[in-house]
Amino acid sequence: MCENQSLTSTVQGSCTVSGMRPTGPLHIGHYFGALKNFVSMQENNKAFFFVADWHALTSDYADTSRINEFVDSMVLDWLSVGLDPEKCTIFRQSSVKQHAELHLLLSMITPNSWLERNPTYKEQQQEITTKDLGNYGFLGYPVLMASDILIYRPSWVPVGQDQLPHMELAREIARRFNYLYGETFIEPQAKLTPAAKCPGLDGRKMSKSYGNGIFLSDTMENITPKVKSMFTDPARLRKSDPGNPDVCNLFPYHILLTDEQKQAEIREGCKNASLGCVDCKKIFMQGLENFLDPIREKRASITKEYIHEVLAYGNDKARQAAEETMQLVRANMKLA
Ligand code: TRP
Repeated sequence: MCENQSLTSTVQGSCTVSGMRPTGPLHIGHYFGALKNFVSMQENNKAFFFVADWHALTSDYADTSRINEFVDSMVLDWLSVGLDPEKCTIFRQSSVKQHAELHLLLSMITPNSWLERNPTYKEQQQEITTKDLGNYGFLGYPVLMASDILIYRPSWVPVGQDQLPHMELAREIARRFNYLYGETFIEPQAKLTPAAKCPGLDGRKMSKSYGNGIFLSDTMENITPKVKSMFTDPARLRKSDPGNPDVCNLFPYHILLTDEQKQAEIREGCKNASLGCVDCKKIFMQGLENFLDPIREKRASITKEYIHEVLAYGNDKARQAAEETMQLVRANMKLA
């Protein structure tokens, strides 16, 4: 639990919590959408970052054979981009059983209607047709997520845009708990990265399940064919045709990876047809290489033993913090 926490505290010196589901390797959309904030927020905050393995089960319950592998690879991805176990607490959700206890208690006070009207729930139910998502755990996903968050009493939760409906529910659940049992939880706020648009290679959202991503663990040999196949402005058929960066699928990456002056040159060159898509992609590949090189180097120095050490250390720290809040929760609910 974060001490000295006032309801109005700011990013500086406050508490931060976030998690990600271990369903496969992280791509650069994860990085620019949320992970970048994890890295910067470990500096001035008491920060807890966890691998949400229970959450992975809400949709991937049928085959759990790769879950341990995915947990390790997520921690490896995190460490390789600069999360530092000296600065933040890195742990595994299922190793801190207090999350499950709080989930059960919060499930008692959460109206079904709040869950059923959740737009993320409705959308995923419709879009994901390869799995049966009619299970109780999937409906309760945001209640577990609220527990993960509220148990550390954070002010800030760095997440991607897609998590905002869940964040709103977490705040509503906190409010309801405080109303019923007295002031216990802080209403946390989402912390977004600056409008980072990171489309997938085919123009759809970058997603593990669409197979359209550039992964933090990719080598340049993997990346080259992916970038070659990337869509640009569909109306620009020849180099001599003027292009439109605003409808190009590649240009948003320049906003993330290329300095501003170069960006302006690219924009001009595209519009006046002096810069072709092939050359534009070369600049992109160079930017990617500069970005991924240090990550790859760091990754190569990390062993499995170290990952397990980091988790064991973080699990203990998280458990202590979570237990402190649970004592307050149990007392306030007269369960102590
Ligand atoms: N829902 C998040 C995702 O899909 C994962 C998550 C679970 C989470 N619990 C959380 C994120 C608590 C932030 C805080 O990536």
